Amino acid sequence: MSTSTIEKTNKVELIVSGKLADNERMKVESNFLRGTIAEDLDDRMTGGFTPDNSQLIRVHGMYQQDDRDIRAERQKQKLEPLHNVMLRARMPGGIITPTQWLAIDKFAQDNTSYGSIRLTTRQTFQFHGVLKPNIKLMHQTLNAIGIDSIATAGDVNRNVLCTSNPIESALHQEAYLWATKISEHLLPKSRAYAEIWLDEEKVETTEVEPILGESYLPRKFKTTVVIPPKNDIDVHANDLNFVAISDNGKLIGFNVLVGGGLAMTHGDKTTYPRRADDFGYIPLDKTLEIAEAVVTTQRDWGNRVNRKNAKTKYTLDRVGIDVFKAEVEKRAGIKFEESRSYEFTSRGDSIGWVKGVDDKHHLTLFIENGRLLDYPNKPLKTGVAEIAKVHSGDFRMTANQNLIIAGVSEQDKANIEKIARDHGLIDDGVSTQRQDSMACVAFPTCPLAMAEAERYLPSLVTSVEGILTKHDLADESIILRVTGCPNGCGRALLAEIGLIGKGPGKYNMYLGGNKAGTRIPKIYQENLSEDALMAEIDNLVSRWSVERNNNEAFGDFVIRASIVAEVIVSVRDFHD
Ligand code: HEM
Ligand code: SF4
Repeated sequence: MSTSTIEKTNKVELIVSGKLADNERMKVESNFLRGTIAEDLDDRMTGGFTPDNSQLIRVHGMYQQDDRDIRAERQKQKLEPLHNVMLRARMPGGIITPTQWLAIDKFAQDNTSYGSIRLTTRQTFQFHGVLKPNIKLMHQTLNAIGIDSIATAGDVNRNVLCTSNPIESALHQEAYLWATKISEHLLPKSRAYAEIWLDEEKVETTEVEPILGESYLPRKFKTTVVIPPKNDIDVHANDLNFVAISDNGKLIGFNVLVGGGLAMTHGDKTTYPRRADDFGYIPLDKTLEIAEAVVTTQRDWGNRVNRKNAKTKYTLDRVGIDVFKAEVEKRAGIKFEESRSYEFTSRGDSIGWVKGVDDKHHLTLFIENGRLLDYPNKPLKTGVAEIAKVHSGDFRMTANQNLIIAGVSEQDKANIEKIARDHGLIDDGVSTQRQDSMACVAFPTCPLAMAEAERYLPSLVTSVEGILTKHDLADESIILRVTGCPNGCGRALLAEIGLIGKGPGKYNMYLGGNKAGTRIPKIYQENLSEDALMAEIDNLVSRWSVERNNNEAFGDFVIRASIVAEVIVSVRDFHD
């Protein structure tokens, strides 16, 4: 692609001109994702990777990190930061077998600095704190059990999500298969992963990336398959969404939603969270063509000059939704039909046992922050491993960071419940408020964190529970999400109360998302200390308890009471 070209259709700038972002050079020079990662791996003088390679290893599923709690101390001792990597697996739909579970449990125990398995908000697991000498072992351990981490980070299509719905088992199975097919179809075709991490032979090829191209995508790209009425995977946080349309329990096609995304930058009004637009309905057999056409349109038209405006959501607003959609139709060779009707009603998981239409039992475990670790008196990680030893179904990670023990027979049910209870995996006292609360990782591992999130959430929720009880609303809950920075990993900008880290102990407060996840909240107060935050929540909940209409949800109330204005079109309303 030429940097100086500005293609125009009806005066719309399709390709942004200017000096390309440095990541573009890095991607093109990488020789299809190889860079000099292999050389870096052999360099034991440092625990880290060169700046280019530390960007490149993301496409192989890893982030270079260090423990921020000890960074200053190491600096004093003139030591380099304690470099390590976080790995995120590719796990379309979040499904994993007991055998796979036991292998990842052992690896986490033996080779990660926290000994934990983190269930993420995008239905996969992360290992934190793996040192350089163990990175190959990690990939080879995963490969031996049929798991890879290709394209789970970086400028590519990432892990494909799929609604965790164990009840309608047949429909879920069909939707899940599409999630895996889309994931495979959009993967990088480069053999770099196999060569570098699995020591596979270097084969002379004239490699091309037919879908992603030699400079891959302008920015990360996220895809989901969602089964209404649940919007557990939060379509509006994702670039491309396939909304399952079924007839008598059988999947017949998808409505396609394009251009959602949550990341923004504090103080930069050209950045904003945005809902995805409904392009229309397609029959099942056109799914891969449409996925490819959306990805290649974004590949060619996405902003490669300014990474802050590079995501699909900005491309849509820059070129126009109709122009983007027409291009997708042209590339896929089909016309979208009118959208089929559907409704989202909720996003949470149903904690506890449910029985599926296949007569199997499914147990959803609430895992606070998705952090599976052996806590004193609560050996959660050991508990899941013990279940894996006797379980004949599978495990499903949900986009709410919970874990489903799926496909349990009647005869195994009591035993599995006993193991879960004995290890603190079932806590009957967990409130709906706690279930409806979520945080990203933030400190100590995330290099971008400005404030605590995961470590702050448990006490924050306890305080909010106290406020709800004080105002006679103990049975109610508010979708509450906290992130350590405005990047959106904990999806705070789809919450009824979204808190976004501004600095140590300081948060911006956003209000007005809804239960179904179809409304973006708006800024209410900036830079609040934890005490000021609690005072604000107390005041707002007090008003809600007195002024609410029948069963009115908190997010709907704050808009009706004009506490914040509704965000309808982000580019117009979010910052006004
Ligand atoms: C510019 C935007 C973003 C950047 C630079 C970014 C960067 C990061 C980094 C560095 C981590 C690692 C944290 C750790 O595990 O220590 C992370 C975690 C994660 N991010 Fe993002 N992120 C961005 C936006 C998003 C968005 C919009 C989503 C989802 C809608 C998302 C989903 C996740 C998930 C699922 C994790 C794993 C940990 C968790 O579940 O909280 N990210 N991100
Ligand atoms: S939202 Fe920010 S602080 Fe939280 S994990 Fe993502 S990048 Fe890190």
